[in-house]
Amino acid sequence: MRCDPVPYLADPRGIGGVAEAVAARCSTRAFARSGIETAEAIEVLRLAARAPSGGNMQPWQAYLLGRPAIERVATAIRATGVAPHKAEWDDYRYYPERFFGAYDQRRKALGRALYALLGIERREVRRMRAQFDRNFDFFGAPIGVLLTIDRGLEKGSWIDLGMFVQNVTLLAQERGWGSCVQAAFAPYHRAIRPLVGIGPDEVLVCGIAIGHPDRHDPVNDLRTERAPNAEWLRLVG
Ligand SMILES: Cc1cc2nc3c(=O)[nH]c(=O)nc-3n(C[C@H](O)[C@H](O)[C@H](O)COP(=O)(O)O)c2cc1C
Repeated sequence: MRCDPVPYLADPRGIGGVAEAVAARCSTRAFARSGIETAEAIEVLRLAARAPSGGNMQPWQAYLLGRPAIERVATAIRATGVAPHKAEWDDYRYYPERFFGAYDQRRKALGRALYALLGIERREVRRMRAQFDRNFDFFGAPIGVLLTIDRGLEKGSWIDLGMFVQNVTLLAQERGWGSCVQAAFAPYHRAIRPLVGIGPDEVLVCGIAIGHPDRHDPVNDLRTERAPNAEWLRLVG
C-alpha cells in the first residue's frame, strides 16, 4: 500500500518524467510543517498555469497561504461549529445527493482502506471525524492553496481549473513533495472568504495542501486502487 510508482507503470524501464510523476503521485494527508519556501510554491503555481484552457481563458484564481493564514482558516472553520457531515454545500455541490453504483462502492472502499490503515474500527465515528477534521489545517502542510473560479463561467472552465490542479499535484510530485486536493473547504466558504479576500463573484472550489510528506504517519501509506480498463474504456475501431 506504500506510494510506489513501479507497479503502476506498465513498463518502468526508461520511463521517467511525467509518466513517473503520474504513477507515483498519491494524496498526502500528513506533512512536515516547514521546508517549502513561498517562492518555490509560487514557481509551481506559475508553471501550473501553463495548463490548457478553452479560449486560453485561464479561469483559475489561486490564494497561496502560509502557516499563519492556514491556522486562521482552520480556526474560523472550527468556530462555525458546523461538523463536516452537517455542512451545507450551498455554493456548489461536488457530490451527488445520493451516491450510487460503482461510484458508491469505490468511495466506500477508499474509506475502509483509509480507516484500516489508521486502525479505526467501523463504529469509531469520532475518530473518523477527527481524521476528516485534519483537512481544515491542510493536514499540517506549510503551504495551502485555495482555488476559486468566477461564478459567471460554465462547466467548461471548471475542467480547465481541474487541469491546473492536476499540474500542481504533478509538479509537487516531481519535486519530491506531497499534495492533497481538498474539496472539504467548499462548504465553509462563508467563513473563509473574509479571511483571504475571496470576493462574492468567486466560487471556492477546493484547496491543495502542499509540503514534504511526514514519512512516519501511516496515513501516507495509503495507495488507492483504480478500476480495470474494462470498466471505463471502450475501444471503437
Ligand atoms: C477535487 C478533489 C477533491 C478532494 N477532496 C478531498 C478532501 O477534501 N479530503 C481528502 O482527504 N482527500 C480529498 N481528495 C483526494 C481523493 O480522496 C483522492 O484523490 C482519491 O482517493 C484517489 O487517491 P490518490 O489521490 O491517493 O490517488 C480529493 C480529490 C479531488 C480530485
